[in-house]
Amino acid sequence: MSEDTRLVVVSNRVAVPKARGAAGAQGGLAGALNAALKDRSGVWFGWSGEEVEENSGEISTQTTDGVTTATIDLSKRDVDEYYNGYANSTLWPLFHYRLDLAEYERETGKGYERVNESFAETLRPLIEDEDIVWVHDYHLIPLGERLRSRGVKNRIGFFLHIPWPPTRLFVSLPYHERLVRTMLHYDLLGFQTQEWLDSFLHYCRTELGAEVDDASGSVTLDGRTTIARAYPIGIDWDHFTSLRDTGEARQAEQRLLSSTRRRTAMIGVDRLDYSKGLPERLDGIGRFFDRNPERVRDLVFIQVAPPSREDVESYQKIRTLLEQKAGQINGARSEVDLVPVRYVNRGYSHEQLYGFFRAAKIGLVTPLRDGMNLVAKEYIAAQDPEDPGVLILSRFAGAAAQMQEAVLVNPHSPDDLSHAIATALDMPVEERRRRYEALVSTVRDDNVKDWTSNFLRDLDTR
Ligand code: G6P
Repeated sequence: MSEDTRLVVVSNRVAVPKARGAAGAQGGLAGALNAALKDRSGVWFGWSGEEVEENSGEISTQTTDGVTTATIDLSKRDVDEYYNGYANSTLWPLFHYRLDLAEYERETGKGYERVNESFAETLRPLIEDEDIVWVHDYHLIPLGERLRSRGVKNRIGFFLHIPWPPTRLFVSLPYHERLVRTMLHYDLLGFQTQEWLDSFLHYCRTELGAEVDDASGSVTLDGRTTIARAYPIGIDWDHFTSLRDTGEARQAEQRLLSSTRRRTAMIGVDRLDYSKGLPERLDGIGRFFDRNPERVRDLVFIQVAPPSREDVESYQKIRTLLEQKAGQINGARSEVDLVPVRYVNRGYSHEQLYGFFRAAKIGLVTPLRDGMNLVAKEYIAAQDPEDPGVLILSRFAGAAAQMQEAVLVNPHSPDDLSHAIATALDMPVEERRRRYEALVSTVRDDNVKDWTSNFLRDLDTR
């Protein structure tokens, strides 16, 4: 990208709302984009996270830490239909293979289109001739096409942070063709893994009849060509590993170590979301204690799960279910002086998470489906190279494609999880080091800075 080319980033969420603590950091998008924008002049445009009675269309701008943000508020109706509705009750479950949870409502579909339209209308005057525009995630799929219809000729790229489902699932979405056709107005489309990319290309070929070249990722339809490629996202390695020297990280590490008293701490950190496989994870832990009752003295499981999307019913249900399951294990297995599962419904700062990850000798990352999963990478980055912990990772997380040296599990199988926990608990230090060294080189080398520059390099040359 040349020096005078500005970068305009667009995503649903711009700032991490304070009330949610570290939930946004765990989501990955916020951290990744901040790192991307830091060195470049430009604008980050999106929703303020605020809900108002009536949309005013007013933009509020702010420059912090070298990043200018331009945000708009949304009306209650927009939040209901676009964010809670179409984005998080239709697209999110469907894209995570949860047809059973996907809702198809005409009204929310219209709300999604309306908000994309008004994003385009508000953003249009902010875009200058030489700017490069980078749109993020499932909330804003049609935005590029809406900008094109307003005469924007700039290069526009789109990155999907979540999986792309197999064609047979995707076609259950009413008007699926219309949605995907809008994507072909972008110059470059990015996916987290080859698997999601393959599903997308398969859809374009079989459902749209587009001409697809798998080797280059080019998709041609109606005389227009877009390029689709995989760009696995990473963490901000330099920043995250620098947290090691903070007092907050050290205190958090000590706090966990002293409270677990010689038991091995096993940790999970996830937004409270059904895609993260939390009930299934607790079933696996329950199975482990059933099989090995005496090991309740060896292991303590800490699940950090800040609430998320609390106005959506499926999220309320998952919360209740988890409370029951954690209560059942603790009821059956606690002693007067120990509790096997600590279930915490709040977020923590990145510094504190670093300390917790370092203190925990097992990291449990077992989503049923996940675009990438940066917690798996952060867990590895926080380990002591001399005495590293073991990562247990779902084979259905995008991260698994790059992290084959983790203990890979099928998160649906309590037996598999139970076995993996036993393997991790008993793993000799030589094997832990061998696995860690292989994993850490990927996490360090495929970091968010390369992700950003790779995507922008390809967009720039389109
Ligand atoms: C996922 C999505 C992001 C989203 C984040 C947090 O990582 O890919 O786009 O920002 O979850 O979810 P929320 O609904 O709180 O923004």
